[in-house]
Amino acid sequence: MGSYRIAVIGGDGTGPEVVRESLKVLRAAASVTGGPDLTFNEYDFSGARYRRTGEIISDAAIKELGEYDAILLGAVGDPQVPPGILEKGLLLRLRFELDQYINLRPVRLYEGVPCPLADKKPKDVDFVIVRENTGGIYTGHGGTTRKGTPEEIATQVMVYDRRTVDRCLEYAFDTTMGRRDRGKPGKLTLVHKTNVLTNCGDLWFRAFEEMGRRYPDVQRDYNHVDACCMWMVKNPEFYDVVVTENMFGDIITDLGAIIQGGMGIAAGGNINPQGTSMFEPIGGSAPKYTGRNVINPLAAIEAGSMMLSHLGEHQTARRIEASVSRFLASRRLKDLSAGAVEESGLGTTGIGDAIAQGV
Ligand code: IPM
Ligand code: MN
Repeated sequence: MGSYRIAVIGGDGTGPEVVRESLKVLRAAASVTGGPDLTFNEYDFSGARYRRTGEIISDAAIKELGEYDAILLGAVGDPQVPPGILEKGLLLRLRFELDQYINLRPVRLYEGVPCPLADKKPKDVDFVIVRENTGGIYTGHGGTTRKGTPEEIATQVMVYDRRTVDRCLEYAFDTTMGRRDRGKPGKLTLVHKTNVLTNCGDLWFRAFEEMGRRYPDVQRDYNHVDACCMWMVKNPEFYDVVVTENMFGDIITDLGAIIQGGMGIAAGGNINPQGTSMFEPIGGSAPKYTGRNVINPLAAIEAGSMMLSHLGEHQTARRIEASVSRFLASRRLKDLSAGAVEESGLGTTGIGDAIAQGV
């Protein structure tokens, strides 16, 4: 039985509400015989705190967060703070400074969840996207000149170096091998845009081919990102593991989220395999639903389960997943939207209770 210290950041909007349900489920799962010993410490980093104090997060606090075994995050984004400030100052800063260079986003359709794709079943939608999480356009290289004139120029540069590409690919190949051991096909698809991004795309493609020689059991495939969007809708069963650069990964993981039933269930992990990783529901702070007890907590609950898996507590993680799976199969929710949560009469807290009771 492992013992772990977890930092908890509820964040903005509905973040604190969904994190509360995730903690409820984690505590229930931990209390089962043989469960891990979990200690949670809550932090109030958020738009509200920023508006009150003028500070988003201090250097010392970042360092402190880096000493935890993992971080559970609710949501970042406050309509009363201009766009970009909290995203860059909190979410991206944590990803960068804790060197969480992988963004792992499973796309899995549970039984009982309506899929917007015609005739697709749970067996057809079961893949993971490995999104590079610290490089590319997100590094912030570029600038603006001649501002405010008709000749204004703005650049935002896609930056990649071989080490950043290689460490992401290595994680993706290892993930593919891990799934292969559990009966999946062992196929890894690189997604890029090599026909236009002939510098960055070429770097990724060559590194992918070279590393592939070290993994003879992994079947390699390549898709341009535009084609990938089409295949994800038409034939999601083609995918096992997808690896891609940061911005393409941002975009295709929202597409992934909707084909697994929506933001109500989509979770992700910002992973530093050698350091502190951070798990989050990938939907936003949903300000219009804040405090109404209608936001779906399943994504935050899934983030909690991913966190346990990452910590090596696979058995407990599986208990949570099985409970989620049974709950969804019971079809008490007509879909995973806030409207359906409200209509079900369960509310955010009722869903948390149901999952916690089922672990
Ligand atoms: C995500 C989000 C973030 C991103 C934003 C909020 C900065 O969209 O986690 O996918 O672009 O990575
Ligand atoms: Mn996104």
